[in-house]
Amino acid sequence: MCGIVGYLGNEEKKEILLDGLQELEYRGYDSAGIAVIEGDKLNQFKAIGKLENLREKTKNYHTEGFGISIGHTRWATHGKPTELNAHPHLGAYSYVVHNGIIENYQELKVELQNDGVNFLSQTDTETIVHLFEKNHKTNTNVFSAFEETIQRLDGAYATLLITEADPDTIYFAKNGSPMLIGFNGDDVYFASSDTPIIGKATEVYYLEDGEYGYAKQGEVKLFDANGKKSFTKQALTTDKVSAQKDGYRFFMEKEIYEQSRVMTDTMIGRVLDESIAFDEIDTALFDSIKAIKICACGTSYHSALTSAYLFERIAKVRCDIEIASEFRYKEPLLTKDTLFITISQSGETADTLEALKMAKRAGLKSLSICNVDNSSIVRESDAAILTRAGIEKGVASTKAFATQTMVLWMLTLYMGQERNTISKEVLKTEIDAMLHAPKALIVTDELHAKLHRLSKRYLHGHGFFFIGRDIFFPLALEGALKLKEISYLHAEGYPAGEMKHGPIALADSELFTIALMPKTMHYDKIKSNVEELSARDATILAISPEPFELADDFVQTQYSSHPMVEFFEMMVVTQLLALEISVRLGNDVDMPRNLAKSVTVE
Ligand code: F6R
Repeated sequence: MCGIVGYLGNEEKKEILLDGLQELEYRGYDSAGIAVIEGDKLNQFKAIGKLENLREKTKNYHTEGFGISIGHTRWATHGKPTELNAHPHLGAYSYVVHNGIIENYQELKVELQNDGVNFLSQTDTETIVHLFEKNHKTNTNVFSAFEETIQRLDGAYATLLITEADPDTIYFAKNGSPMLIGFNGDDVYFASSDTPIIGKATEVYYLEDGEYGYAKQGEVKLFDANGKKSFTKQALTTDKVSAQKDGYRFFMEKEIYEQSRVMTDTMIGRVLDESIAFDEIDTALFDSIKAIKICACGTSYHSALTSAYLFERIAKVRCDIEIASEFRYKEPLLTKDTLFITISQSGETADTLEALKMAKRAGLKSLSICNVDNSSIVRESDAAILTRAGIEKGVASTKAFATQTMVLWMLTLYMGQERNTISKEVLKTEIDAMLHAPKALIVTDELHAKLHRLSKRYLHGHGFFFIGRDIFFPLALEGALKLKEISYLHAEGYPAGEMKHGPIALADSELFTIALMPKTMHYDKIKSNVEELSARDATILAISPEPFELADDFVQTQYSSHPMVEFFEMMVVTQLLALEISVRLGNDVDMPRNLAKSVTVE
């Protein structure tokens, strides 16, 4: 996700910005840029791709003496990852960087265009700099022109603005997106999280929503809706790794909590009021397509399995799912009327990449759903949809799964819409449900505390069965995989209706059954499957909106009108359960034994 760094002082500004942006790399980005004002010298550099590209572009550029500077890493939301869309955005004589979303940017853009402003990028951010310069025309006081500007912005933002009209000052504002100010003597730093300024600043002030102001050498003035205010600095931590975790104990925990936000990022610009849009896909991709085949591994395979139900039910297109390592050697019969989809968090999984190459050799059209732009799988595919989860550090995948599943749900609706297999009314209902998904992913203190409490009862036994039906069967597989990976306890995911065909023989009080019992989907069927297990003395942890009297333990979810919303809420419960069991067992949650984050070998 996007990152901000700013610096005001006498040190080499380019290095401070580039080093700071490097510290934010772990959040993910697709382009980067810096802007520096030193007296009357104004310089700006932008590059797409890795920071190395920006370093290369700036290798002959050095700063000297006092100056002000801002830098940014961008993860594309409004507009593609291009140099023009990269920050800082330039007006006639000012630059701006911004994280977040300006919700009313369309309205502001039209207003500015009517005034004759020419926009260079497709971003919401560019409106800030033009609006500032428009205000500055009638209000020569730079600070009040800035103040007027931010008062017009709706939505979430953390923003820095520098202008030749006041070359000693950085203007800042924060609402909804994180930003902090670092201090070291007269030098002032800005960043969207601690890590870029650790080792440079000694003290810090974490801005609150609604705060804004300006910084000059040795002087920071802070304001909010009530006017000027004082603030207290605190000592800055010196521990970078813990700073990257934003206060969470583990990256996996942080990533579980991030899911609600990244899900919104995944939907931005794609889930519209009454339709689904994918700028990155040419609809010709679907021409003469009669079937879909999806190949993936591990967690990505589970998101694929979930989507098979949706592709057939909503888009009315045949959909087969294959484990990539199996697909490679089965001598599959491939026909050109099949769209070949690969799903991968890393984009580098060897088996998935090889499966894709096989499909391409057979002349199939290909689409990848991936979290890493420019990865091998993305480059090899005819088209790619990025999941926008941000970098995932925990080896056990969480937010990647959530965003993959969301992209696949959107894709089924998109195909349904393009191929007229769903009515406008159904599409609208699905979109309404989609917009509820981020809410279902919010981790409340109460829920986390409950799973922490429950976890102590699940540290032994001779195995776990996660059971579910329909789309909750792949979720059961995923819940079991999460638990296996980080607890090292044996767990299996099973279709609930299949238990009586064999596995029920294992049932006794030491067999833990995690029952996914959504109210919107086959509730009575799964209930009777769970009753059968309970009758054989299995220990039941039921996850459901509906209280279930035979459960030994019960996690109550919200009543919802759509199975996918229930799916996402139950997904969070299974992730937290795995996390808390692993913590109690003293395991390395983020780097479980024997596992690698990216499996680039067969
Ligand atoms: C599980 C997990 C793995 C990956 C699998 C595929 O938590 O992370 O099962 O899902 O190795 O990796 P990608 O999605 O990078 O292709």
